[in-house]
Amino acid sequence: MNHSKIFMLVFLLFFGLYEAKNPNRIIVHNQLGSGIPLQYHCHDNGDKDTGVRTLSEFNSNWTHTFFDSIGVIVWNCDLHFQTDKEYYFDNLEVYRNGIIIRSGQLRQWTARLDGIYFTRDYKKPVEHVLNWNSTNI
Ligand SMILES: *[C@@H]1O[C@H](CO)[C@@H](O)[C@H](O)[C@H]1NC(C)=O
Ligand SMILES: *[C@@H]1O[C@H](CO)[C@@H](O)[C@H](O)[C@H]1NC(C)=O
Repeated sequence: MNHSKIFMLVFLLFFGLYEAKNPNRIIVHNQLGSGIPLQYHCHDNGDKDTGVRTLSEFNSNWTHTFFDSIGVIVWNCDLHFQTDKEYYFDNLEVYRNGIIIRSGQLRQWTARLDGIYFTRDYKKPVEHVLNWNSTNI
């Protein structure tokens, strides 16, 4: 190993340890309003699975904090709610890790009546990114 490689390694180790204090965070957030429950079912590509759960109250959320590890980490969620119709979005990819181990990542998914809103930045508000699929009841 030459000097620049050693420097790089030390830098990455230090940076990794420093960064490791902040976990990554997935948030599924119910802002449907009018007491409409949001049903969610999230799982990763390993053995983590929330089962089918319900966020009953306006502004309630499911928050999952975790650290990246070596290998692929993908989280998917099925989201459902009912008003005049059945609204859903299945297999929404809510998190996918990168080649480099990251920390302090945010993936916030906010369910509103007119669609799914998203932000990956604590300083920025959520924005509309997806529409619901629907079927008549
Ligand atoms: C999620 O809920 C927790 C408490 O249950 C709260 O502290 C946090 O601010 C909520 N986050 C969002 C984005 O609403
Ligand atoms: C719902 O709609 C989106 C496109 O907006 C699509 O990607 C997705 O596969 C659809 N199906 C289900 C079952 O959610």
